Amino acid sequence: MTNPVDLGVGIIGTGLSATMHVQALASVPGVRVLAVAGTTPEKAAEFATRYQIPHAVVGGEKLLALPGIDAIHLCTPPFAREEYVRMAAAKGVHVLIEKPMARTLAEADRIIAVCREAGITLGALFQFRFTPLPRQIKHDLEAGKLGHIFLADCYAKWWREPAYYAGSSWRGRRDLEGGAVLINQAIHSIDLLQWLAGPVREVAGRVATAVHQIEMEDVAAATFTFASGAFGVFEASTATYPGYAERIELHGERGSLILNQGQGIAEWHLKDSEPERVVAADQRNDASRDPSKMSLVGHVAEFTDFYAALREGRAPAIDGREGRKALEIVEAIQRSSDQEGRPVRLPLE
Ligand SMILES: NC(=O)c1ccc[n+]([C@@H]2O[C@H](COP(=O)([O-])OP(=O)(O)OC[C@H]3O[C@@H](n4cnc5c(N)ncnc54)[C@H](O)[C@@H]3O)[C@@H](O)[C@H]2O)c1
Repeated sequence: MTNPVDLGVGIIGTGLSATMHVQALASVPGVRVLAVAGTTPEKAAEFATRYQIPHAVVGGEKLLALPGIDAIHLCTPPFAREEYVRMAAAKGVHVLIEKPMARTLAEADRIIAVCREAGITLGALFQFRFTPLPRQIKHDLEAGKLGHIFLADCYAKWWREPAYYAGSSWRGRRDLEGGAVLINQAIHSIDLLQWLAGPVREVAGRVATAVHQIEMEDVAAATFTFASGAFGVFEASTATYPGYAERIELHGERGSLILNQGQGIAEWHLKDSEPERVVAADQRNDASRDPSKMSLVGHVAEFTDFYAALREGRAPAIDGREGRKALEIVEAIQRSSDQEGRPVRLPLE
């Protein structure tokens, strides 16, 4: 029998992501948040008090020095990840890392290598894969529900208030975040698309800063060629007022699937049956307009898998290799845009 609480968790960061993690962890069996690390004593103490966490410290190094920490959740911005992965690896502490797992593919590969060499488990957060509709759709596609897919599109037309960028020291900066809408918001939809439709082999894209006062892109468009031979169209923005639920559209020889991920609605239109509308109220959220309006159902499910993986000595469903796939596509779009939209082949060199 497993001890009811057998794994101790530390959270690094006290912002929006950390808030989601601590709330979701409350529904994960067998784990207890023992400590939180912030950038100031006040922020750490406030967070610890709000969520009844025993220890509040400044900086991840102090958190990793505490006894009983089996895993950390890295809820810091992308620039403050690799150093903490290295510290955790040195202590044999497992790591669950927020998306994007790094600012660049090269940084992601260093993170994966450090964890592998230390023998620690690395989990990469892409919680939408764990929400009810994508899970069921993945299963149905593998069973051949659409037959051969020849078009696979994705649209992530979100809206962020100017204050979202103005109030942050790191969002939308190449050096601190690695990009803007592609690496922060659209990476979720790109991950779902490649998970459902298979690997992307070629990308041709353009990015621009159309509306927001930021260094990197707030609008992006691309075409994809998948390994299967399917084509796809992609559009993303954080400047598309008022913000629309992200959508994935798959067309195959047996019919079509339209997934309105944020609205929690999937529509199947198959040649041999009546249209089917599946609603998953628990995955519905308004994150296309407000980042704090995220359903936590995917977080709870992915965390539960991660801690089960630790206990069972297996890899989590989304490990470092899975986590880097969408990042590679993001980087390919950026590289293509840097070359005036010329096609870029994957895997990237
Ligand atoms: N999976 C999701 O749906 C989801 C949702 C929100 C955010 N995120 C991701 O989580 C990450 C953080 O986003 P956020 O919205 O929480 O940002 P935020 O700015 O609200 O919070 C970041 C936190 O990290 C702390 N921090 C910064 N530098 C640090 C350092 N060197 N050491 C320790 N702590 C440090 C800050 O004090 C702050 O508490 C981003 O990569 C973002 O894309 C993912």
